[in-house]
Amino acid sequence: MMNHTQADRNQPNTTPAGLALAGVVSIGAVILTLAAGWGMSQAQQRFTPSDESTVLPTSEKPAGALLNGADYLAGRELYNAACSACHGANGQGVANLGKDLVRGKFPLALSDTGLAKQIIAGRPVTDPMNTTKIPMPPKGGRADLTDAQIGQIVVYIRGLQDPRRIPADLPEQAPTMLLASNRPGSAPATNDIVDPTASGYEASWVLEGRALYQSSCVSCHGADARGLPNLGKDLAQSGFVAKLDDEQMIAFLKKGRPVSDPENTTKVDMPPKGGNPALDDEKLESITVYLREVQALAAKSH
Ligand code: HEC
Ligand code: HEC
Repeated sequence: MMNHTQADRNQPNTTPAGLALAGVVSIGAVILTLAAGWGMSQAQQRFTPSDESTVLPTSEKPAGALLNGADYLAGRELYNAACSACHGANGQGVANLGKDLVRGKFPLALSDTGLAKQIIAGRPVTDPMNTTKIPMPPKGGRADLTDAQIGQIVVYIRGLQDPRRIPADLPEQAPTMLLASNRPGSAPATNDIVDPTASGYEASWVLEGRALYQSSCVSCHGADARGLPNLGKDLAQSGFVAKLDDEQMIAFLKKGRPVSDPENTTKVDMPPKGGNPALDDEKLESITVYLREVQALAAKSH
């Protein structure tokens, strides 16, 4: 049974001092070996005996069975495309965006099915459980994700929560077959984009940018690029986009616009590259080309 109050959900995930238990340290060491690059403080945070929410605190046993490697890898691709912008590449949350999925009480306490249901439902700002005043869009804004894919994302999150459950010797990359499943299916009319395009760019280039937009920007700016309430702004009619040349747009996308930036009006972060570090200059240029087309089509429909 979930019975969270606003107060307990607001508790920071920090660690009180004094957990020099030998057992904790040895588990910390195992985790450090498994997840090279993690700071000790993070390993300690995950095993705070006083944090009654974590499944693992005093147990030397993993929180569950070994995960399915193929699902884990597919889940990682999907998570990176659909969730990491708001929840961070390591799942530990992003300031002013999504919550910590790794150490948060709520996702740890839920069953796999319960977690999948939460991801499918999302959490609007009108939900009393919402404490951030930022919406979690249903399926993270990716309506195209199937139940099976959400299940794979759950598998990946379980691995982030307890790396001991990740099978050893996984390949670096998911097989291309799995990657191919990470293509948004539902999207606004591709058949609007034909040569000659409204923007004058080649249709194939615009479509390439559209595919990238659909996986990296849609969660905050919406399928039609008209923006989403309490999240990203309208890009179809943005004067800001219109006034920047392509090079300036790429520079902007690389930098993003944090809430600390005086130009930020929403009090929500625009993360660098929309939170997807895999977007190189060439991909950002394709996305820019897509936005040119979106703007040209919006102007035409007036
Ligand atoms: C556009 C930003 C955004 C995206 C994309 C997004 N989330 Fe969220 N998510 C949020 C916000 C904001 C919250 C916290 C809402 C609140 O309760 O205040 C949240 C909450 C959650 C929670 C509940 C956590 C808790 O402790 O209550 C889960 C689980 C979750 N998200 C999983 C996911 C998964 C999995 C994905 C990818 C499929 C995803 N989210 C994509 C913004 C996002
Ligand atoms: C996690 C949410 C999120 C994601 C993902 C995201 N953005 Fe944003 N974006 C925002 C927010 C919020 C703003 C508005 C910030 C502000 O208040 O100025 C914004 C602003 C912008 C602006 C400036 C618009 C204007 O009129 O000032 C552009 C351009 C933009 N985003 C493009 C993109 C592109 C392209 C992608 C994908 C590569 C992307 N964003 C992904 C949240 C996001």
